[in-house]
Amino acid sequence: MELREAIGRRRSIRFMLPYKPVEPEKIQRMLEAARIASHWGNVQSLRAVVVFKDSASPEVIQAITAPVAGFQIRLAPVVIVWYVETAAVDEQSDRLRELLKAGALGFGDDKEAALERQLIPFFTGIKERLKEPGLNEMDCGQGIAQATLMAFEQGLGTCLLGGGNTEKMRQNLGLPESARILIIQTVGYPAESPEAGGQRPRQPFESLFHMNGYGKPFPRSADVVEELHADGMLQQPAPAPWREAELEYLRQALAIKGNGLI
Ligand SMILES: Cc1cc2nc3c(=O)[nH]c(=O)nc-3n(C[C@H](O)[C@H](O)[C@H](O)COP(=O)(O)O)c2cc1C
Repeated sequence: MELREAIGRRRSIRFMLPYKPVEPEKIQRMLEAARIASHWGNVQSLRAVVVFKDSASPEVIQAITAPVAGFQIRLAPVVIVWYVETAAVDEQSDRLRELLKAGALGFGDDKEAALERQLIPFFTGIKERLKEPGLNEMDCGQGIAQATLMAFEQGLGTCLLGGGNTEKMRQNLGLPESARILIIQTVGYPAESPEAGGQRPRQPFESLFHMNGYGKPFPRSADVVEELHADGMLQQPAPAPWREAELEYLRQALAIKGNGLI
């Protein structure tokens, strides 16, 4: 599948087939995709604990059980706990040296000395600030996005689940204090139809993006929109006429209690 079609067809999948295990190779491909995502200074602070429900200990499964969207965690055969390892920032100088050696950074005979003289002291001076939420989270998001597309490409569904007491989860999972849990991601084979009711609502393009200054909407070409529809990236907006019937079917088939919101 072309990238643009994958971007368009991917949906947050909240209803998984609980009985169908996910092959570890498929999860590995997700992690491989996350690993090669860009990261500021090549710091690579994105980490994960992957929990396979069929082989993890009851304690670990208990640790990832969140009060929010509990049914999603119950249904998903795999849950990925994505976290940022802030201690990775401590090794940033080495990551910069590697980048230089790889030919990604700087040029000229003096570049190695200049790195030690200029860039490394600059970053070392603001190291603690760089561990705070900000750049690291953004880069982790890029990695998770790549993993999400990889999951989709392999026929898997995923949903990111925020909220919950991540500090408690960190302790229960035995992660170091330098770890900050970002998000958990359910992974499984979708019980929903691939459309999952259609493309979810988004704010108007022009209200989101500007050109050459704030307040000047980026002009949206109708030709490009048409092209992206033809490529499958822009799709029928949700809800499909049969969505409510599908949701009721899923609710019954998967024995979901309550309203499914929390
Ligand atoms: C950082 C993040 C956190 C999210 N947290 C939750 C959540 O706690 N529960 C949930 O059901 N969906 C969660 N979602 C999924 C969004 O609600 C979803 O992206 C949105 O409904 C749009 O649907 P789509 O991804 O299919 O386009 C989260 C998404 C992101 C990116």
